[in-house]
Amino acid sequence: MISLSSLLLLLSLAIPASGFGSMGPIAAAFGGEEDAFFCAIDASGKQAVICWGKGGRSSENPSEIFSSIPPMAALSGGEGFMCGILSNTSQAYCWDSMGSATDLIPSVYRYKSYTHIAAGKNHVCAIRGYYYLESDSGTVDCWDIVKKSNSNSLISQQSALFYDQNISELVFKTVVSGEGFSCGGIKDGGLVCWGPNSSILRISKISDSFVSLTSSRSVVCGIPKVTGEVKCWSKNDSFRVPSSGVQFISMTAGDRHFCGIREDTHGVECWGYFNASSVPKGAGFFAISASNVITCGIREVDLVLDCWFVNETVKSSDFDPPLQLSSPGLCSPRSCSAGEFAYNASALDEAGLTSLCARKDLHLCLPCALNCSDGYFVSSLCTENSNRICTLCSFCQNSSCWAACGLEQVEMHRRHQRLLHKIELILGPSIAGFLLIIIGWCLFPYLFFFKGKDGPKKQFRSCIGKKDMEADGIADPNPLIPVAQCPGEAQIFRLSELKDATNGFKEFNELGRGSYGFVYKAILTDGRQVAVKRANAATIIHTNIRDFEMELEILCTMRHCNIVNLLGYCTEMGERILVYEYMSHGTLHDHLHGGLSPLNWTQRLRIAMQAAKGLEYLHMEANPPVVHRGIKTSNVLLDSDWGARISDFGFSNLSDKDLSEDMKNDVYSFGIVVLEILSGRKAYDVDYSPQNIVEWAVPLIRRGKAAAIIDRYVALPRNVEPLLKLADIAETAVQENSSDRPTMAELAHSLEQIVKEGLLLYHNAGLTVVKDGRVHSSANLD
Ligand SMILES: *[C@@H]1O[C@H](CO)[C@@H](O)[C@H](O)[C@H]1NC(C)=O
Ligand SMILES: *[C@@H]1O[C@H](CO)[C@@H](O)[C@H](O)[C@H]1NC(C)=O
Ligand SMILES: *[C@@H]1O[C@H](CO)[C@@H](O)[C@H](O)[C@H]1NC(C)=O
Ligand SMILES: *[C@@H]1O[C@H](CO)[C@@H](O)[C@H](O)[C@H]1NC(C)=O
Ligand SMILES: *[C@@H]1O[C@H](CO)[C@@H](O)[C@H](O)[C@H]1NC(C)=O
Ligand SMILES: *[C@@H]1O[C@H](CO)[C@@H](O)[C@H](O)[C@H]1NC(C)=O
Ligand SMILES: *[C@@H]1O[C@H](CO)[C@@H](O)[C@H](O)[C@H]1NC(C)=O
Ligand SMILES: *[C@@H]1O[C@H](CO)[C@@H](O)[C@H](O)[C@H]1NC(C)=O
Ligand SMILES: *[C@@H]1O[C@H](CO)[C@@H](O)[C@H](O)[C@H]1NC(C)=O
Repeated sequence: MISLSSLLLLLSLAIPASGFGSMGPIAAAFGGEEDAFFCAIDASGKQAVICWGKGGRSSENPSEIFSSIPPMAALSGGEGFMCGILSNTSQAYCWDSMGSATDLIPSVYRYKSYTHIAAGKNHVCAIRGYYYLESDSGTVDCWDIVKKSNSNSLISQQSALFYDQNISELVFKTVVSGEGFSCGGIKDGGLVCWGPNSSILRISKISDSFVSLTSSRSVVCGIPKVTGEVKCWSKNDSFRVPSSGVQFISMTAGDRHFCGIREDTHGVECWGYFNASSVPKGAGFFAISASNVITCGIREVDLVLDCWFVNETVKSSDFDPPLQLSSPGLCSPRSCSAGEFAYNASALDEAGLTSLCARKDLHLCLPCALNCSDGYFVSSLCTENSNRICTLCSFCQNSSCWAACGLEQVEMHRRHQRLLHKIELILGPSIAGFLLIIIGWCLFPYLFFFKGKDGPKKQFRSCIGKKDMEADGIADPNPLIPVAQCPGEAQIFRLSELKDATNGFKEFNELGRGSYGFVYKAILTDGRQVAVKRANAATIIHTNIRDFEMELEILCTMRHCNIVNLLGYCTEMGERILVYEYMSHGTLHDHLHGGLSPLNWTQRLRIAMQAAKGLEYLHMEANPPVVHRGIKTSNVLLDSDWGARISDFGFSNLSDKDLSEDMKNDVYSFGIVVLEILSGRKAYDVDYSPQNIVEWAVPLIRRGKAAAIIDRYVALPRNVEPLLKLADIAETAVQENSSDRPTMAELAHSLEQIVKEGLLLYHNAGLTVVKDGRVHSSANLD
């Protein structure tokens, strides 16, 4: 059965759509939830294949299952299997979801070479030729991939259903496959479909020429060159197409939904049955691929894989893409045409990587975007080897972007002034203007330079204070060891170096995990122990790279001996890795509540003071001021000298929140930490009534019974006065009315006084007792 269209010219596909049945740099294997999976060609320059999804999860390490797949030039997914064209020989290669069956090519076709391949539900069609021969074309071979009887494993066999005398002599340029049909673009123009189910498409008398073709189970859609508006053919005439007027460069088809990449902004639009709120907004894509329930794509700004969902019953974590960058297109020997740019791998900032293609004579031609999504303006147009660049409208400075940002001149001026003001607040006037002009990595050296001049002296004032204190000669059973030197400036780490230092980010090196990602312990080649905080894919996908860069710039300037200082970072291959000082004594939480050595009162008092100083630094001296918003005992870490360090602070830069109000919230949280230090009980503790530490401790402190809250499992000093004062300080910090709470600076000062005055002499003979909630020294006891 054959249906032939009239005069249909299929252009060579700039970005092949790559859903079910089409070919591209990313492809989806359809299937039940258990065997659906995705594969993409990576951005390592080797054209290696990375796969993810639930398929193959039955093994412990899915990436290992797929690791035997050889480098590929292009990919296409069928049902429960994936095919590709080998990058070195142009031979076809198909494998199943377990990565175990890798010979799904009938022997008659195994040593043939191909230029195009399209996997359908249970069959594959491929066009003879050489992949790396410019616009090669040839006849088509088709074979079946079916389940072995009495088993789930797949086998391949020559196809009778897809052999068609009428097409066997035709020369094709492209092919797509669906459920029981394939359609091919003929070299000299025209489109034909064949296979047992091809009649349902009712393709006839089509006079358009197409830039992209994609197929679903029973629908074929194309983007006509002239209108750029999607056209579909299926049994059902009422098949929905996207709103008219929108032009697409590429499409992909799921079972019941289609998604396309808009020509203007490279944003994604979907139609059919799908969950609109899960579709990424604002982000541009180079390539997308859909399976039944999930669509994944390669983001244009950073080549990170991003997936979104069309069906609430599927757990998103089953399809979390790996944190590996993917090739945004297919390598080709042709020179890029107008409206395209050649992707320049140096944009990835990966040492030694000059091209994403395995061969020097190949390159990636990608379509230029013309516009940016809402809230961004085009700050740099598409050139021969770079796409257009989008910049946030809040950085729009002059009339060139007013229109694109939808801003009137007066409004723009106001915004500009507001932004300047905010940035000055945050960064100080000296560099604010500078920042407005240059947002990017090039700013780093300058920041270090600026800060270097007056940095260290000012920064270490508080540490010098500590030394003075020691010089006072307070009798101290555990004299303060000088705090380790705060580091100088941030270092740029190589990804390979950090991988080696963490044994490849293995679990046994893990120090903790959070929504941000994992924290690993690492030992650098120079022997230094460091903590490596690695953002997971979700973090990378959901945080703006500019916010991250800005945060990094600020973090790099922050240095204090009572915070966990940043040593360096790594942004290779789309990673966002921060390298911090390693805190060998763990968290305050684990010492108070988690079974690590209970701290003595000298240590506890000093930890309270140092934590206050760390927070004072964040609030008062850091530039911009930093509000922590998450102070708790697990964020107070202890260094090798038992010094307290504040960790896990970030920024919500340019936020409109009232800084001072938020700082008072930090003061409240700090008050809770002090109450925990004093009492040894948790902030919420079911063994106590009331369970809330503030409701429990504050009435006692206010009734003059502060001694009742003091941790009885730690030997008391003879003079408990400093502890009672500490309780009073905690009480002021947790005042209900935030305006009644002291500032961190005031708290730090009071705590310093207490530590200075404190005659925390141990008296292990136990002559001090706590009775009726009052402290009695031995002298007062009969
Ligand atoms: C081949 O094409 C002719 C004319 O279009 C048609 O009559 C015939 O049925 C086709 N043969 C097959 C096997 O599809
Ligand atoms: C092509 O690559 C495959 C897989 O890496 C390898 O087995 C094969 O020997 C290579 N062939 C040639 C001609 O290099
Ligand atoms: C043709 O389509 C029907 C559903 O529309 C499907 O059940 C059948 O398996 C398809 N045929 C082939 C050969 O895939
Ligand atoms: C055609 O599609 C519409 C919705 O897209 C659906 O309601 C209708 O049942 C379909 N008709 C057939 C014959 O499949
Ligand atoms: C969602 O996916 C599940 C499993 O693939 C399927 O059974 C269910 O019908 C889907 N729901 C919708 C509304 O498509
Ligand atoms: C749609 O997607 C959003 C975001 O992924 C999710 O929160 C919501 O539950 C989904 N809704 C449905 C009906 O699937
Ligand atoms: C890629 O970019 C780098 C740095 O911007 C430039 O030196 C190099 O010439 C570019 N390569 C090509 C092929 O344009
Ligand atoms: C660019 O996009 C914005 C909205 O995102 C729109 O207002 C504007 O007209 C577009 N410009 C062009 C030239 O298409
Ligand atoms: C407007 O500002 C942009 C930076 O946002 C700058 O590149 C451009 O040259 C400026 N144009 C004029 C006319 O000043």
